[in-house]
Amino acid sequence: MADLTLTAKNPTSVKADALVVGTCSTSDGLAVVADQLPQDLVRQLETLAPQLGLTGAPDEVRRLPAGPGVQAGVLVLTGLGERQADGTFGAETLRRAAGAALRGLAGTASAVVALPTADEDDLAAVAEGALLGAYAFTRYRAGEAAAKAAPVRSVEIATPFARSARAKAVVERAQVLADAVHGTRDLVNTAPNDLYPATFADAARSAVKELGAKGVKVTVLDEKQLASGGYGGILAVGQGSARPPRLVKLSYTPSKPATRVALVGKGITFDTGGISLKPPAGMPAMTSDMSGAAAVLHTVLAAARLGLPVAVTGYLCLAENMPGGNAQRPGDVITMKGGKTVEVTNTDAEGRLVMGDGLVAAVEEGHDVVLDIATLTGAQVVALGNRVSGVLGTDEVRDAVKAAADAVGEQFWPMPMPEELKANLKSKVADMVNSASDRAGGMLFAAVFLKEFVGSTPWAHLDIAGPAYNEKGAFGYTPAGGTGVGVRTLLGFLEAAGAR
Ligand code: BES
Ligand code: MN
Ligand code: ZN
Repeated sequence: MADLTLTAKNPTSVKADALVVGTCSTSDGLAVVADQLPQDLVRQLETLAPQLGLTGAPDEVRRLPAGPGVQAGVLVLTGLGERQADGTFGAETLRRAAGAALRGLAGTASAVVALPTADEDDLAAVAEGALLGAYAFTRYRAGEAAAKAAPVRSVEIATPFARSARAKAVVERAQVLADAVHGTRDLVNTAPNDLYPATFADAARSAVKELGAKGVKVTVLDEKQLASGGYGGILAVGQGSARPPRLVKLSYTPSKPATRVALVGKGITFDTGGISLKPPAGMPAMTSDMSGAAAVLHTVLAAARLGLPVAVTGYLCLAENMPGGNAQRPGDVITMKGGKTVEVTNTDAEGRLVMGDGLVAAVEEGHDVVLDIATLTGAQVVALGNRVSGVLGTDEVRDAVKAAADAVGEQFWPMPMPEELKANLKSKVADMVNSASDRAGGMLFAAVFLKEFVGSTPWAHLDIAGPAYNEKGAFGYTPAGGTGVGVRTLLGFLEAAGAR
């Protein structure tokens, strides 16, 4: 990850390859948001904005020669959009503008960022955005292609809060957070022939070591241990693959924890649909069907690195959903962990089967609250699109997740779990079906199914099916491919839980 430092110096005097400043749109056209820039440069840019095709809109990033009076050779203008009523821009706007600028600077070694920071929260947002934007996944590229994509190595943020009391903690948190989001993206972007349940479990072990997440204990259950533990859902989904399933448990336990939180993540390393095979068009993106498990892994590590006063246990439910000769069939009846039976009416509704087992395991171990995160339903994408995730569950926990998401700048929206959908669980032969014959409200039904495995523990379910994987172009601090969505919300939830 890029090095991050702060400076109280005038950014025009800082030695770096590029100087990043903001632009915004006003009723008089474009305005440059940087008091420290030479006045004639600002006047020139503002006058020529129409001819340069600059409006100051979000995601408008332009590189220009900086000219005299600026140490950096290149000036980067990044759009902030319109000012808020109070004259500031807001944290998420700053995060995105910093991210877009740094993303555009791939292949450049160093940058100084001079975006307006009205307080330390703004500084935190600029730091996070810059680091989140300075990301590239180059595992499968060599030589020139990798060098061209290489993220900026050194970021210096110019801010009046460079020496404030909170500055050090702000930088440290931004770094831990960016490591967590980058680590999640890397796992999602790793090809499914390289990342399968056993290698995911290995990756979890090595991530604990590499990131120095002291005090995190990792336990891995293999297929034999899953069988003796009664994990019927994970085994049923995994049995069609030559690569057997795993359950990874990660525990971080501080001394005298304020509360105990379980995080359960869906880790389908590839979802073909199984015997209820998916159509070819939608299948390649199913390399991202382990995004929830990746987010859980890296949230636990981040919580440990930050020393949060909350005990966190992560459960990664890992399986590959393949239509092999031993695959489960539509019509199979399986026994989940805890003893409930499920008639598998559609093998493509596999996420809820592995998650049901994970939820039972979490609940059995007695946590104060359980959150689960999963790329669970196509219905989530239909209802909320590719950038807004759904959150469902116990009213209080669901609302706390929404509040955490709002505070960190991730888009989540609360969805209901209507009582009447319980009727759709009814099976002629088992305790429930995994897929209702009625497709209406698919995201809500999936949550109603999961609730059967949660009992009375306060719980929320995060459906990140659309936002976890960006199949379109990059925007703000979000690259194409794995986005790392959910990590910041989960971490924000844990921080708030520790502060309560
Ligand atoms: N992994 C998919 C959900 C998904 C769809 C994630 C699109 C990301 C983008 C999940 O396992 C699935 O296949 N769900 C089915 C459930 C249905 C059979 C009840 C779906 O949503 O179509
Ligand atoms: Mn599926
Ligand atoms: Zn799936």
